[in-house]
Amino acid sequence: MDKFVIRGGNPLLGTVRVSGAKNAALPAMAAALLTDEPVILENIPQVRDIVTERNLLAAMGAEVELGYGRAHHRTTINCGTVNNPEASYDLVKTMRASTLVLGPLVAKFGRARVSMPGGCGIGARPIDLHIKGLESLGAAITQDHGYVEARTDRLRGGHIVFDKITVTGTEDLLMAATLAEGETVMENCAREPEVADLGELLIKMGAHIQGHGTSTIKIKGVTKLHGAKHRIIPDRIEAGTFIIAAAVTGGDLNVTNCDPNHIASLLSKLEEVGVKIVRNHDSVRVIGNGDYKAADIVTEEHPGFPTDMQAQYMTLATQSEGTSIVTENIFENRFMHAQELVRMGANIKIEGRRAIVRGKTPLSAAAVLASDLRASASLVIAALVAEGETIIDRVYHIDRGYERIEEKLRGVGAEIKRLGEVFPKKVAMPAAQTT
Ligand code: UD1
Repeated sequence: MDKFVIRGGNPLLGTVRVSGAKNAALPAMAAALLTDEPVILENIPQVRDIVTERNLLAAMGAEVELGYGRAHHRTTINCGTVNNPEASYDLVKTMRASTLVLGPLVAKFGRARVSMPGGCGIGARPIDLHIKGLESLGAAITQDHGYVEARTDRLRGGHIVFDKITVTGTEDLLMAATLAEGETVMENCAREPEVADLGELLIKMGAHIQGHGTSTIKIKGVTKLHGAKHRIIPDRIEAGTFIIAAAVTGGDLNVTNCDPNHIASLLSKLEEVGVKIVRNHDSVRVIGNGDYKAADIVTEEHPGFPTDMQAQYMTLATQSEGTSIVTENIFENRFMHAQELVRMGANIKIEGRRAIVRGKTPLSAAAVLASDLRASASLVIAALVAEGETIIDRVYHIDRGYERIEEKLRGVGAEIKRLGEVFPKKVAMPAAQTT
């Protein structure tokens, strides 16, 4: 099993470039199902979830090329050959975002069979709101043997008010509504930049959409969408992870190819803690000094503090003077990293949805276990500042969403090496087979 070995103590210095956003790339790839023509996506990150999605689309009969040269992170997807509108348990269980194919499949093919995702490390994560939304658009839904099956002659426009804000739920229904007959109005939508980016792609494909990126989205259905070329937005969570890593290690780091507006709540919180931040048009310079004071955070939907940055922030809180209260409002079980941080010397108490972090405590190296994608990132950051050599096991979690993180960190002065197979391998990846 792959491990990272990290010797702490080096400040991160220099420039690191952020990759494309995994969470924008995944719905964009699913959107290709809405047309028979090729969809070309650029700035695709080289991460494991993208390979999973490629496999998912290929299993349906799509032709998916992943250009994995260093220079171009591009995929060309042709769904004109899709003949099996089904997402199997084997793929859905490794990546919950696979459920993003549900809406596009039923809208385009009139039928979709998608495995229910089941439980997950950070909480229950049901898809009831996706199902309810599709029903309001006229799909007949049945559930058996662990699968959701949706059928319709053609979806028709409807009025959807989400009971709760859901990112992939908004994206799934946005895609479905583009091919529905008539107008759809969706309220209480997720306002994440990844939703707005998906809207931009769909418009390039010929969809009529207004309000993507706001809480009310209006869609006028069309009978057909066409191919398009689109560049995926930068990964705000990867950017935020490097920014916190630089702050914790007392570094001076230029984080390039990111959009500071996408991480406004994080940056202002870091300033409150005492981190010096310089915002530029498409980069952020972070100047750490190690002299930080505690500040509370509450995770919220965008534009609030992102749950995907909570674990990394908790590591910073262990290095800030005083008590920080970290409240997790989005997922009920997202504190798995806390116990691992405690094993490294942190003082953290969990009370329900709140973690009480008392700092500043020196961290020391230990053997720790990565439990999910963002939890892994918090352990990497902790290891970068811990005394001694930390071994992080199960780093396949981090490969799901961070592109060559160890190379990027080494490039700015970290002592980090991987034991086991490098992902992605440094060879061109073959195009997926069609079936
Ligand atoms: C997306 C992101 C993930 C991020 C999360 C919250 C992708 C691929 N993943 O996940 O990185 O952590 O947003 O910002 O973009 N819920 C329901 N019923 C549903 C759907 C969701 O109750 O049908 C609940 C969830 O259990 C959770 C909350 O709504 O408590 C938000 O989840 P949601 O926004 O859907 O998360 P994802 O889209 O799965």
